[in-house]
Amino acid sequence: MNVKIAPSILSADFAHLGDQVQQAITARADYIHVDVMDGHFVPNMTVGPLIVAALKPYTQPAGVLLDVHLMIEKPERLIPDFVRAGADSLTVHVETCPNLHRTVEYIKELGLRAGVTLNPATPLGTLEDILPYVDMILIMSVNPGFGGQEYIPASTTKIAHLRRILDERGLENIELEVDGGIHPNNVAEVVRAGATVLVVGSAIFNGQASIAANIAALRSALE
Ligand code: DX5
Ligand code: ZN
Repeated sequence: MNVKIAPSILSADFAHLGDQVQQAITARADYIHVDVMDGHFVPNMTVGPLIVAALKPYTQPAGVLLDVHLMIEKPERLIPDFVRAGADSLTVHVETCPNLHRTVEYIKELGLRAGVTLNPATPLGTLEDILPYVDMILIMSVNPGFGGQEYIPASTTKIAHLRRILDERGLENIELEVDGGIHPNNVAEVVRAGATVLVVGSAIFNGQASIAANIAALRSALE
């Protein structure tokens, strides 16, 4: 199976962001994952549409998708700004969207791929009615807010359960993305459980080996 790798810029060196994203793209990253945090829904603040727009000239010529993960309250207020900035997919948290179906339809009407994500303590049952409308489900395998956290082991069972639900309902075309604590030593377990897209921050932008070598290490752990 063709598993996609989505480097998360949260762990990149922001003083050299364009250069580091270019290195990830040259190393055949499939998506570039942008973590948007508001200091309310999660206890950290990061970047907004300006950075998405700044990365577009790097991703677009390479055909790499800008995968934007919105960890913000009332995400619908900022959706048009992220569309204008050039996001290719927008993922919202079920915990922040009381009118989730409306939010998902809004993202799709504006021409983007729509994703829905769950915090580790939010049960899969909250996805039941929205599944037929989404392009991607993102399972958080850490509590959102920071890079470099430990993978929560119970995530593997949750991924496998979601994989069974998607297969049973004939929804195999929905991407199953996993985000948090993914490293070469657990990447095979996550993919075996049914993930199709892996978000990886600190294991790619850790400054120890090159970005290309780190992406290669993830791919070889999958062979
Ligand atoms: C966490 C973010 C993740 C984070 C993953 O809130 O959503 O995308 O950057 O980083 P690592 O791979 O270091 O856990
Ligand atoms: Zn993320």
